[in-house]
Amino acid sequence: MENTSGIYGNQKPELERVINQILLHITQIRRDMESKLGMDPVEHCLGRIKSEESMREKCRRKGLPETTESALEKIFDAVGVRIVCAFVDDVFTIRNYIADSGRYEIIEEKDYISRAKPNGYRSYHMILRVDGKYHAEIQLRTISMDTWAALEHHLKYKKKVGGRQELIIGELKRCADELASTDLSMQTIRDMILEGDSR
Ligand code: GTP
Ligand code: MG
Repeated sequence: MENTSGIYGNQKPELERVINQILLHITQIRRDMESKLGMDPVEHCLGRIKSEESMREKCRRKGLPETTESALEKIFDAVGVRIVCAFVDDVFTIRNYIADSGRYEIIEEKDYISRAKPNGYRSYHMILRVDGKYHAEIQLRTISMDTWAALEHHLKYKKKVGGRQELIIGELKRCADELASTDLSMQTIRDMILEGDSR
């Protein structure tokens, strides 16, 4: 029998279907880019359904009742897909493929690449409406941005930082900015190589 006791009720298979649909679409975009550019720009791509526990915690944090309706219609990241690219330009190219595909309604976009969060976090976020009822959060970022986010995520949960909070925040921000500067240099190198190719 279907398990309908969780916060997603009987919608879990639908969420799986939405994730698979998006992941298949990304695979198609990668193939298309590979045939056009001669390279697959995606380093890796992950999909997940937000865990029962995190979804309930988020409902409480937002002052929402812990219901399937909240989880699917008030909170937009029950389905999450992260696309990690080699170069900054690829992030925007894939963003355009997704936006121009006509498959989704774009609810919101946050460009934390052009404008990083104060802590240094960088990524391009899209909230999509899929099949009228479901939502998905797409996070697009480079390998460098992904590295920083993973490390920062680890550190966030290490509570015992003593009186060094300010220093740690500042150092993390510095690392984020250095990685962003390296991303720009790598993009420039790639552009030079591509330019050489077309000569
Ligand atoms: P939520 O209420 O948590 O959804 O935040 P929000 O609505 O302000 O959304 P935002 O787009 O800022 O963040 C959504 C997701 O991006 C988070 O769940 C994380 O996965 C990621 N993210 C955002 N900010 C940070 C950050 O400072 N560090 C890391 N490691 N991840 C972040
Ligand atoms: Mg959010």
